[in-house]
Amino acid sequence: MPTYKNGQIVTDTDGNIMHCHGAGILEHDGWYYLFGEDRRDRRRVSCYRSKDLVNWEFRNICLTLDSETGRHYVRTDLRLAPRNSGPMTPEEAAAISMQPIGHRGANIERPKILYCEATGKFVMWMHFENGRDYNAARCAVAVCDTVDGDYTYLGSFNPVGNMSRDCTLYKDDDGTAYFISSARDNADMIVYRLSEDYLTVAEQVKTLWPGQFREAPVVLKENGKYYMFTSRCTGWNPNQGGYAVADAIDGRWSAIRPFGNETTFNTQPTAAVKVGETWLYIGDRWDPSDYLNSTIVYLPLKFDGESCSADWADEVTIEDGNVTASAGADIKDVRIMLPGCSEYLSGDGYNVFTKKLGYADKNLLWLVEEEEDCVLIKHKESGKYLSGDGILDNYVKGEERLLWKLEDSDEGKLFINRRTGKSLLVFGRRVVLTDKNDRHFGGFTIVKNY
Ligand code: GAL
Repeated sequence: MPTYKNGQIVTDTDGNIMHCHGAGILEHDGWYYLFGEDRRDRRRVSCYRSKDLVNWEFRNICLTLDSETGRHYVRTDLRLAPRNSGPMTPEEAAAISMQPIGHRGANIERPKILYCEATGKFVMWMHFENGRDYNAARCAVAVCDTVDGDYTYLGSFNPVGNMSRDCTLYKDDDGTAYFISSARDNADMIVYRLSEDYLTVAEQVKTLWPGQFREAPVVLKENGKYYMFTSRCTGWNPNQGGYAVADAIDGRWSAIRPFGNETTFNTQPTAAVKVGETWLYIGDRWDPSDYLNSTIVYLPLKFDGESCSADWADEVTIEDGNVTASAGADIKDVRIMLPGCSEYLSGDGYNVFTKKLGYADKNLLWLVEEEEDCVLIKHKESGKYLSGDGILDNYVKGEERLLWKLEDSDEGKLFINRRTGKSLLVFGRRVVLTDKNDRHFGGFTIVKNY
């Protein structure tokens, strides 16, 4: 059965690693087409297609730094790359928080594609930056006669003069299309109605949640209601996701309600797709220490009246329009979170201390290993074990201070030290274990709205 494993690097049907981030999905001619960021060399937007969202066939690099350019009827900047542009230096790449993988030239993010019935063309909207920093804050448009052909780049611009960063497209049932993007240095989320050919903005119809700093928008319609998912602005690090509901895309939107847990299960929204009766939320799991290791996560959405939620799923199986998810049970790979403050247990080889969550911080990673009827809590980086004394120690077989019993309690599972009989304490506070997908195991939890 076609099964998608969340959080793992995905390969296409040729066995090559898929580079398709900040992706958008278009359903066309019985296929799901996935368009996303490919930052290697002079590539910019890759395209894959699939019948089941699990087996992806590589189709094309639809936009590169060398793509053909074409004229637009509003004034745009057609530059994609300076002449003879070579690879970026590590310093240049670091300045725009990328790994040293790109070539000098435009940085293209979050490409989204719609088919325009009025013109018979496929239209791509995306976030454009100059490749040096994030100050251009423009959208850009490209167009093609075929879904996965070579797109013609029509240039970048500021819609109605606004800044425009993270973005999405939405096509309503009557064919009216909308472009939605973060503006005013991400303080506002703006909804624009597009022209009939989808090539430019016809009107700014809504300024949502002014001053609330939202990004990564995704819109879907379910049961007559519009839902918009967004994240807060914390760069490549995840944060508590949110969603809002409206009766019309240009109508009154609700306040933002929480979606997922405090890191949205370590994802940031990028797309949504309906399979049979089930909507799948598609999120990027960025790897800030190596962008190319970023992965894609699918989570089935649950609707109850106007509320929408998702649980963590290790695996999502998609067959004949049916979606089933399995939560997964093992707790081997964990971060250890302190209750009452957003800090995690960290180690440096001997000492144990607490730190703010940093996804590239290897010192926050722990392994839970089974030993007889107990578990050991191993610091991944140093290979040492957490002892009941609150320090890291070398492994000694059967040493009681290194052994922890897992006990069920009203609050979930607690780790009780074999020697002291006390539950896991750090600086006098009981801690919570979470796995890498931010499921929680026992103790108090600082996660609100979860
Ligand atoms: C995120 C954004 C990504 C990318 C990143 C760069 O907030 O959603 O698309 O722009 O920042 O730091």
